[in-house]
Parts: sequence; structure tokens; C-alpha cells
Amino acid sequence: MKQIIIAIDGPAGSGKTSSAKIVAEKLNYIYIDTGAMYRAVTLAWLREKVPLTAEKLKEVIDTINITLEPSANGQITKLNDEDVSEAIRSEEVNRFVSQISADKYVREAMVNLQRKLAEGKGCVMDGRDIGTTVFPNAALKIYLTASIGARAKRRLNEYAEKGITGLGFNEIATQILERDRFDSNREVSPLRKANDAIEIDTSNLTLQEQSEKIYKLALDIINN
Ligand code: DC
Repeated sequence: MKQIIIAIDGPAGSGKTSSAKIVAEKLNYIYIDTGAMYRAVTLAWLREKVPLTAEKLKEVIDTINITLEPSANGQITKLNDEDVSEAIRSEEVNRFVSQISADKYVREAMVNLQRKLAEGKGCVMDGRDIGTTVFPNAALKIYLTASIGARAKRRLNEYAEKGITGLGFNEIATQILERDRFDSNREVSPLRKANDAIEIDTSNLTLQEQSEKIYKLALDIINN
């Protein structure tokens, strides 16, 4: 089968990660959740308990090793060989990840790693800047969107499944909007749709429906 890069970008809660996993599995491609990498950097910074400055972030980046391993449910994220797949989903990481991922040096390091992991392979990569910066020549670029209501509801369900009950719908919606605002307005590689990306509004689509749409678009390219 032809090996292409499929870039899936979009705001928090638009369904990128879940559909990217399904599409990668169907195509037997590797799957890379780039948000997990920025989350791992955020966790490393939180553990160091140092101020949030460019200088400190550079020190953190220069001393850590982030690796991704495929697993049955998508991806295992490792920080210095420790499995941090769960730890990077904490509320504290959620709170700081936008600020950490806006740093130029952090982004350069992660983008290099992302390119190295996927270059020449069949890969579904999800993030915020994959179609615009990481792989501007990706064969297929998808930009997922969804209403704030739909996105907050999904996060609420995700939290409930994990037994996290502290946050209500309004709080989650506010957090998501805040993250969108930050991710879209940062100087380096802000979240935006690439000109040649196909936009899919997932507000009223099931996970199966949205993955099927992306899968069909991918097959069209792969088979031609
Ligand atoms: O997709 P996510 O919620 O796990 O992403 C966490 C944060 O990481 C998000 O708020 C912005 C940042 N991010 C980024 O800047 N670039 C990417 N390619 C992926 C994520």
C-alpha cells in the first residue's frame, strides 16, 4: 500500500486523536499524537518546579528524552523511559500545556522529532500545525472543527469515563475556549487551517462517521 502522511489538525475536543487512531489502524499506518509530546514536556517542566521562562524550558528540553511507542489503544508516551501516558492527561498539564507549547525552542525540538518519526512512512499525525508547519506537503490534510458545546460535552464524557468528576460543563467549555484562544494567537505556528486542508465539522458526527470520511479520503489518494 502507498505510504502517505495524513495530517489532522483542529482545536481541542474536535475529535482529532480518536479519529486519527481509527484511521491509522484501518490503514495499518503509524499514529502520532503530537499533543502528547507537548504534554510530556509540560509534565517534565512541572516536575522540575522551575519558573516558566524560555531559559528554563530550554534546560528542560535539553535534558529529557521523549519517545512514542505504538500500543493497542494508540500510543504509549514515554518521558525518560517512564510511561507517562496517563500522567500527561492531568488537569494540571491541561492548564499549562498551551503556554509551554507556545515556546519557540520547545516547538523546534518537537517538530524535528515529529518529522524524524514519520518521514517516509505511512503515518496519521494529529496536532495543531501538522498541515501548516510539520508536513506542509502532506498528501492529505484534514481540519476538524466542532461547536464548543459538542467539544465540551466530549471532554466531560472523557473525564467521567476516567472518574474525574470535579469539573462541570461550563468550566470545561471555558478551559477549552481559553486553550483555543491561546493556541490560535501564539506567534510560532498558531493553530490554523492550511489552505489546502479539507474541513470537516464533527459536531453532529459519530466517531465512526468522522473516521470513515477521513479513511475514504485517504483511500482515494492511496489508490490513485
Ligand atoms: O491535542 P492536545 O489537547 O493533546 O494538545 C495539547 C496542547 O498542545 C494544545 O493545547 C496545543 C499544543 N499542541 C501544539 O501546539 N501543537 C501540536 N501539534 C499539538 C498540540
